[in-house]
Amino acid sequence: MKRIFASLVASIVAATAAAQTVKIGVIGTYTGPQAVFGEMTDRAFKLYHKLHEKELPPGVKLEFLTRDDGGPNPDKARQLAQELIVRDRVQLLAGIAFTPNAMAIAPVVTEAKIPLILTNAGTSIVTTRSPYIVRFSFTLWQSCVPLGEWAAKKFKRVYMLVADYAPGTDAETAFSQGFKAGGGEMIGSVRVPVQNPDFAPYLQRVKDAKPDALMVFIPAGKTSTSLMKTFADLGLAAAGIKLIGPGDITTDEELPNMGDVALGVTTVHHYSAAAERPANRRFVEAWKKEYGTTSTPNFAAVAAWDAMDAIFQLVKAQKGNIESERTMELLKAYRNPDSPRGPIAIDPETRDIVQNEYLREVRKVGGQLANVELENTATTEKDPWKEAQKKK
Ligand code: DHB
Repeated sequence: MKRIFASLVASIVAATAAAQTVKIGVIGTYTGPQAVFGEMTDRAFKLYHKLHEKELPPGVKLEFLTRDDGGPNPDKARQLAQELIVRDRVQLLAGIAFTPNAMAIAPVVTEAKIPLILTNAGTSIVTTRSPYIVRFSFTLWQSCVPLGEWAAKKFKRVYMLVADYAPGTDAETAFSQGFKAGGGEMIGSVRVPVQNPDFAPYLQRVKDAKPDALMVFIPAGKTSTSLMKTFADLGLAAAGIKLIGPGDITTDEELPNMGDVALGVTTVHHYSAAAERPANRRFVEAWKKEYGTTSTPNFAAVAAWDAMDAIFQLVKAQKGNIESERTMELLKAYRNPDSPRGPIAIDPETRDIVQNEYLREVRKVGGQLANVELENTATTEKDPWKEAQKKK
């Protein structure tokens, strides 16, 4: 009798362990002008999960609870995070395209002690807002300082146009720092609304100022195509003004919509779907096999892909029993020498991504527009803003 009871208990314990489900709340932008962020994040998460599910410990499953914040809506994002944590009892949060949303969620994850794995949101300060935030995307300082340094070798006078919110201010300050250090002159700067700006009046002002180049940061997506077209229609390209910026303005999936007006646009960024690295070739091939040849992964996709690789590692290491402090330790130690974007790591001190930045130019490859990587502008670069803060 005793023996039967003991084996019954053992099998109940085994069954409970076997039915281990890790709940992951995903908050992203699935509607509105930047809906591409949600689509890219979702596709990357699902593809990684499908290809690697068999590596999870026996009986361990991942459950994704996906919510739409609709764009830069901090109140909505905070409410979604609260519901996911309190009502749905998620053990991890991931996603977040927009900086204001990440800032709004930071106090919520601090209080609840729930790790938040960012797959976009590129303003430097975000990761300082909670010890439970870790970033797998990029910072605008990482791309814009080397962009400014490169631009100083090519142009004397540059004008800037940025989206009027925190990432735009970061892009502006970081670019100016790099550009001025190299001896360049900033001749003007203008800030435009974050969503649905009419670029024509701003670009007319830029044209009249006759800069050698215009540096632009606006959130990636359809808006970048409208910028590119207005730039050409108003004759800025014909007037010899060169368009440059972080890779958000030539995001890979929008290039076919931009058309030839994008040719020659030079950017600095950490990811291009056209990169020749074998790890990237495998990633893009798997993506196109799953989603069709007309779908191209962009920088938001690679961030989500790498984030899911980290989630798999932390789930495997804890055999599905997720505990927040241990999870943060594992995330801080994360490194991957062979991401599709090159070698990456999380800086344990700042919980921010360390990665290469590449100088790229839009060219035609096999008849298709592509961000062709020309050189590494910064190899295994930490966030320059945080490095500068340490010296203060
Ligand atoms: C944000 C940053 C980006 O580079 C982008 O393309 C979209 C949004 C952000 O941090 O809000």
